[in-house]
Amino acid sequence: MGTELIEVYDDPQGLAAGAAARFIVAARGAIAARGRFLVALAGGSTPELTYQLLSKPGMKEQVDWSKTWIVQGDERFVPADDSASNWRMARRALLDHVPIPSAQLFPFDTLVKSPGESAQRYAQTLAALVKEPGSMPRMDLIFLGLGEDGHTASLFPHQVSLHEESAWVVACPPGVLPPPVDRMTFTFPLLNASREAVFLVAGVKKARVLAKILAGEATRDEYPAAGVQPVEGTRVWLLDRAAAGKG
Ligand code: 6PG
Repeated sequence: MGTELIEVYDDPQGLAAGAAARFIVAARGAIAARGRFLVALAGGSTPELTYQLLSKPGMKEQVDWSKTWIVQGDERFVPADDSASNWRMARRALLDHVPIPSAQLFPFDTLVKSPGESAQRYAQTLAALVKEPGSMPRMDLIFLGLGEDGHTASLFPHQVSLHEESAWVVACPPGVLPPPVDRMTFTFPLLNASREAVFLVAGVKKARVLAKILAGEATRDEYPAAGVQPVEGTRVWLLDRAAAGKG
């Protein structure tokens, strides 16, 4: 793995401020170095505060949205207006409030026949974003969550998706946590090509799993988040005190 960084904030608000700051710094760095910022958003509930913060006056002007491309690290196979849709959450909290060209927004297509088809199409969408044809897309930043069962994105414990070596995006059945819907998710090869993988983890329920992962005591089969190890990038943990076991 590349480098690792852990930051502990007092509460979820502090964590969100830290995450928003990382987003802004990553955007500036990527745009200065490569002319664009390619970011993959996380779903679930924890990132919502971060997205809201980034959409606020005073914050949103700090990102050059005209040079920002937004994709999703995972999605639930539900219509885009369903309350379980990760894209809906990101749109309502952030994307509807910033001046980003719609051609630079890439939600999963959940109107196709199956999660498998959606995943396949998404891989093609990502392939089209790469400047050198055939090469693996590298996210400048990917936000990720951690489930109390150790899952991240929609990579759930003991599923076959954890052993995918070639596909960038796959479909998978639900895990044990709600909502009980099929998913599409980035696989480890794509996640680990990221320049910066940033976990946002809040709450005491995550503390046990997190401690095991940070201690290096978890296999990716048991706790998939342990398998996120950017090859030439940074793994960042933004935690609140409760998740860090200091609550
Ligand atoms: C999803 C997610 C998932 C999420 C974790 C943590 O679609 O469910 O992307 O990986 O990040 O389940 O979710 P919370 O932030 O809600 O705890």
